[in-house]
Amino acid sequence: MSLLKLLLFLAHWGVARAGPGRFWHISDLHLDPDYKVSTDPLQVCPSAGSRPVYNSGPWGDYLCDSPWVLINSSIYAMKEIEPEPDFIFWTGDDTPHVPNERLGEAAVLKIVGRLTNLIREVFPDTKVYAALGNHDFHPKSQLPAGSNSIYNQIAELWRPWLNNESIARFKEGAFYSEKLLGTTGRVVVLNTNLYYTSNEQTASMADPAQQFQWLEDVLSNASRAGEKVYIIGHVPPGFFEKKGNKMWFREGFNEKYLKVVQKHHRVIAGQFFGHNHLDSFRMFYDDAGAPISVMFLTPGVTPWKTTLPGVVNGANNPGIRVFEYDRDTLSLQHCPAVAHLLLTTEEINLFKALVSLLLNNLQWLPSVPKIRWISSAWYIQVCPQAHCPHVCPLYTDYTAVNAGSQLIKQPVTSWDVLVMIEMTKKHYSLIYSTNY
Ligand SMILES: *[C@@H]1O[C@H](CO)[C@@H](O)[C@H](O)[C@H]1NC(C)=O
Ligand SMILES: *[C@@H]1O[C@H](CO)[C@@H](O)[C@H](O)[C@H]1NC(C)=O
Ligand SMILES: *[C@@H]1O[C@H](CO)[C@@H](O)[C@H](O)[C@H]1NC(C)=O
Ligand SMILES: [Zn+2]
Ligand SMILES: [Zn+2]
Repeated sequence: MSLLKLLLFLAHWGVARAGPGRFWHISDLHLDPDYKVSTDPLQVCPSAGSRPVYNSGPWGDYLCDSPWVLINSSIYAMKEIEPEPDFIFWTGDDTPHVPNERLGEAAVLKIVGRLTNLIREVFPDTKVYAALGNHDFHPKSQLPAGSNSIYNQIAELWRPWLNNESIARFKEGAFYSEKLLGTTGRVVVLNTNLYYTSNEQTASMADPAQQFQWLEDVLSNASRAGEKVYIIGHVPPGFFEKKGNKMWFREGFNEKYLKVVQKHHRVIAGQFFGHNHLDSFRMFYDDAGAPISVMFLTPGVTPWKTTLPGVVNGANNPGIRVFEYDRDTLSLQHCPAVAHLLLTTEEINLFKALVSLLLNNLQWLPSVPKIRWISSAWYIQVCPQAHCPHVCPLYTDYTAVNAGSQLIKQPVTSWDVLVMIEMTKKHYSLIYSTNY
């Protein structure tokens, strides 16, 4: 690195700049390294399992996890849309939805490494705050509450993005906190896979890896220091909106997380999670029913259609998201903008038409031909207000577009329904229906 480059690099990393900034949030890239276009519907991708894949396209298919070209194209699209973000949030899930026997520790680490290298290649001077997903471990979802070889190796892989204290902390439990680069605030990267219902390692623990206690301490310290905090993680609390009764956190952990947010919401300026693969959010309320905090769930890059029983519309269009925020207060200036990646001009026009139909409050959507994937990105900013999900119907309307297109054929009977589901018999979470 030349001296000038080094100085520019340091200047870029070190200084808190005033005014509005932008950052990326990406999640759930789920690379399927064995994806290939094939006329044999059973030979396209291991991530489809036994589901036959007809007419697979070069950029992917709704039944499959992401081919490399889709991920590559998504990361380069970020570079085109916002080449100089203040930082990037990357909230995990890198490997394909295949049985454990098809992966293994080495395969998981190899995929995490490939994605890490790609992001570093495209954004060499950008700080990345990265969280592990439940698929970034072997066996999947079994992330332990203490040190192990995978946390160790990933901490080394991510060394360029971490300070020494974070590396040490990450090796103990895959969570850490740092000053948020270029701001007066702080970021907390959580390992909420410890609270996941599928994680047997932590099932009987009261506070796995003492992460809750640590989080309380970090937030109390931030409060004393006058810092605002962004929290990021992979598995979110609350219900899966495509399957109303499906909670991701064990109930006790869900309860605990809500308590922390209730207690410390004044310093929490935003929460950014993934795992659901769809554009969504969680509202947190205080005991008097007033909204106190919001968690944004970013769409995934993988289009993969979930195999969870009972879910309709289980597929998603790949999405990447950019936020605009105030570097002093960390307040989010607008609702998140999402770029969806589509293949042809016709498809982009179709997508625009769909959004326009929804925004015009029509009750019927046309059937849509199978969409192939991308080479250009279409960028849409839909919501004018900060922290607005519950007062901003446009957000919900837009979100309704973010589903497997082959399934949008029925009359839209519930797209205007905001379904309020109360978490754990209290009044915290607002979840809307994508059940069209
Ligand atoms: C990744 O995307 C970039 C930008 O579009 C392109 O130049 C490059 O060839 C792509 N690489 C692969 C392996 O697809
Ligand atoms: C971080 O740790 C490395 C070795 O582990 C050491 O060489 C370096 O000086 C440390 N950096 C700081 C800022 O303490
Ligand atoms: C909180 O601040 C105290 C006093 O500065 C420090 O000793 C402690 O390590 C901090 N806790 C965390 C979790 O950062
Ligand atoms: Zn995922
Ligand atoms: Zn996940």
